[in-house]
Amino acid sequence: MTHLTDKHGRTITDLRIAVTDRCNYRCVYCRTGTDGPLYSDLPFSDYLRMARLFLELGIEKIRITGGEPLLRNGVVEFVRELSKLRTWRGIPPEVALTTNGHLLSGLAQPLKDAGLSRVTVSMDAVDPDRFARITRVSHGYESVLDGIRAARSAGLDPVKVNCVLVRGFNEDQVPAFGQFARQEGIVVRFIEFMPLEEDRVWSPATVVRLEEILARMAEFQPLVEIPRGASETALRYRFADGIGEIGIIAPVSHPFCGHCSRVRITSDGKIRTCLFSVWDHDLAELMRRGADDATVLQFIRGVVDRKEARHHIGEPGFVPASRTMVHIGG
Ligand code: GTP
Ligand code: 5AD
Ligand code: SF4
Repeated sequence: MTHLTDKHGRTITDLRIAVTDRCNYRCVYCRTGTDGPLYSDLPFSDYLRMARLFLELGIEKIRITGGEPLLRNGVVEFVRELSKLRTWRGIPPEVALTTNGHLLSGLAQPLKDAGLSRVTVSMDAVDPDRFARITRVSHGYESVLDGIRAARSAGLDPVKVNCVLVRGFNEDQVPAFGQFARQEGIVVRFIEFMPLEEDRVWSPATVVRLEEILARMAEFQPLVEIPRGASETALRYRFADGIGEIGIIAPVSHPFCGHCSRVRITSDGKIRTCLFSVWDHDLAELMRRGADDATVLQFIRGVVDRKEARHHIGEPGFVPASRTMVHIGG
């Protein structure tokens, strides 16, 4: 087996599959809230075939995303089927899920039993009123908290929480999240806001950058940096007293494109080689036309070879991605 690589010398080991672009939240940094789903979903059997073929090319980790993936009936069964597949090493792939957590409390145990390895919950404030202002949903906070706790009890480990910081909305939540991470035994990761939203909210001034996040957290307790894996998105830190871990994902101020190991499949079955791609590649259509495995594998290799070198956020010639985040999957 020859690994999936691109012309910039990167090896691709992570596949992210969006199973719907519907969402039950309307976060200010993501959706306008007026648009519904734009693209159709595929039957799970199609994503499964795609996953099997990508695994043949050296993928080791599969992350299920959306929209909100738990809105899709059959997602537990999908996890079970993914877990039966094998990587080139002959072992099951690591199967992870990114969710807003709203429907997680009832699904955490079934997902774990079906073979899910890990879950990441998006939660942008620890203050309930602030949470409601960001998500534009009035009744979500308690459900998400229950979801996080249910994931912990089900033995999903580690449970991570992703918090996109947007100036004017939640930058003051940083110390409270430090406390939250320690109390709940989860890893909280702060994410710099990227220009991938439906509304025109983003400007350089809205980004809360790594240095500022560190300074804000230092008011709570100093941090010590800890080593991270080669293709990991987050810089990792432990609190000085040894209790609790946080991460900072800083694609704007400290891009990590040089060691990017990710490709994405959208809910309608297109390959996206970068979050900021201005085009995508129709894998579903190729499969609908009856292409055999060898043809599909060759198509994937050709597409991935042309993966973009990096994003151009903040540069004068920046061209927005051809899809917004809710239609890509994070
Ligand atoms: P683990 O570290 O395995 O938990 O996964 P991950 O870092 O891929 O996690 P996750 O899916 O939680 O991604 C976290 C966030 O990081 C996403 O929502 C994006 O905002 C950002 N991110 C993830 N992958 C990329 C990427 O390839 N490029 C950029 N620019 N941002 C990314
Ligand atoms: N910039 C950074 N992260 C984002 N997410 C959604 N939109 C953006 C953006 N513009 C995050 C969500 C979730 C994941 C799917 O992507 O908070 O954690
Ligand atoms: Fe990879 Fe594109 Fe993200 Fe850079 S912006 S890390 S190349 S997906």
